[in-house]
Amino acid sequence: MSKSVFFVSCPKGVEYLLADELSTFGLEPVRNAPAGVWAEGSLEGGYRACLWSRLANRVILHLDEVDATSGDQLYDGVVHMDWQQHIPVTGSFRVTFLGQNDAIRNTQYGAQRVKDGIVDRFRASGGQRPSVAAKMPDVTVSARLNRGRLSLGIDISGHSLHMRGYRTEKGAAPLKENLAAALLMRAGWPELAQNGGDFVDPMCGSGTLVIEAAMMALDLAPGRKQESFGFEKWLGHQPDLWLGLRQEAERRAHEGKQRKLPRMAGFDQDSRVLSTARNNIERAGLQGLVQVESSAIADLALEGDWASSGLVLVNPPYGERLSERRELGTCIGRWAIPSSACCRVGVWVCLPVHLNTASPLVCAATSSTGCSMASCRLSCCCSPWTTPAR
Ligand SMILES: C[S@@+](CC[C@H](N)C(=O)[O-])C[C@H]1O[C@@H](n2cnc3c(N)ncnc32)[C@H](O)[C@@H]1O
Repeated sequence: MSKSVFFVSCPKGVEYLLADELSTFGLEPVRNAPAGVWAEGSLEGGYRACLWSRLANRVILHLDEVDATSGDQLYDGVVHMDWQQHIPVTGSFRVTFLGQNDAIRNTQYGAQRVKDGIVDRFRASGGQRPSVAAKMPDVTVSARLNRGRLSLGIDISGHSLHMRGYRTEKGAAPLKENLAAALLMRAGWPELAQNGGDFVDPMCGSGTLVIEAAMMALDLAPGRKQESFGFEKWLGHQPDLWLGLRQEAERRAHEGKQRKLPRMAGFDQDSRVLSTARNNIERAGLQGLVQVESSAIADLALEGDWASSGLVLVNPPYGERLSERRELGTCIGRWAIPSSACCRVGVWVCLPVHLNTASPLVCAATSSTGCSMASCRLSCCCSPWTTPAR
C-alpha cells in the first residue's frame, strides 16, 4: 500500500498524546505542529484515525505545498495540481482556508483564489467543472497558509471529529469531547479501567467525562455513530477497506460489552443538567453502563468500596469571584484529597495561574506534580499518579 502524508489537527497542548494515538493506527508521527501532528502511513491509517481517534479534530490527507507570497502565485500553484484525481467533475467542493500573510490578508480571499485555481484546472481540461457548495460538499479541500507556503489537502474527516454525535444537548461550559478524552488519557484512565478501577466525576455537568471514560473502557470507536465522513465521495476512496474497518469496530464494540466493566459514575448538584447527561448517555448507547446522580459535592459520600481504586476527575465551574472559587476549591479538596490515597485525582481548571495558589486542592496538587496543557492546567494530587517525562 502506498504511503500518504496526513496532517491531523487537535486541541493545543494535546499534540504529544495525539502522536502516540496515531501510532496505534499504524501511522508514523513525523512532526508535531502547534495544534496538530504530521504523520505518514497508508490510507488505512488515515481511515482508522477518522474512526478511532479520540483526540483529533480533523484528518487532512496532504496533497502538495505551493508558494503563496501573493494571490497570483498561490493561484499558479493550485491550478497546476491534478484536482481531477480527487474531486468528481459532476460533484461539489468547498475550500477551508486557514492563516494569512502580508499578501493574503484574509481567509475569504485566500479561499477564493484556491477555488479559482481548482475550477480553472477543470475548465482547462474539458470544460465541465464541479460546483461549489458551502454546505454538505462532496469534497472539502483544506488550505493552510504558513508564511509564504500553502499546504493543500483533502479533509477526509469532513467535520470536526470531536463531535461524536451523542451530545446534541450541552450543560453550561461543557468540555469538548476530545479534550475530555485527552484529560482521561493523560490521567492514565485506559490502563486503570483495564485493571478494574472505578471512575467518578463529582461535577459531571452534561456527562462528557464519564461518557468518554465509558467509551474507552468499552473499546467503542468514537466515530462509530457518525453519519458521514469527508472521504465518502472523494475519488480516492476505497469503500471495501472502509467497510472492513467499520465491521472491525462493530466486533470490538460487541466484545467490549462482554467484558467485566469498571464502575463509572457522575454526580452534579444541578438536576436539570443531569437530565441532559442522561440523554447524552442514552444517545451514546451507554444506558445501564454508567450512572449519574444528583448530589452536591459537599454531600457526596460514595458507598462501600467505590473509588477504592481508579480515577476521580473533575472539571469545576469557573466562578466569577475569587471568594467563590476559593470556597469551591476548599470543597473539592475536602472531598477529593482523602480519595487521593488510593485513587488518582485530577482537577481540570481553566483559570489564571495565580489561582492555583488560591485553591487548597490545586495548591496541594501543583506542589506535588502538574501538567500544563495550553493555557489551562490539569493538576493532579495523588500517590500513584506520576507525570510522564515529556
Ligand atoms: C464546568 S461544569 C462541568 C462540565 C462538564 N465537564 C461537561 O462537559 O458538561 C461544572 C459543573 O459543576 C456543577 N457544580 C457546581 N458546584 C457544584 C457543587 N458544589 N457540587 C456538585 N456540582 C457542582 C455545575 O452544576 C456544573 O454542571
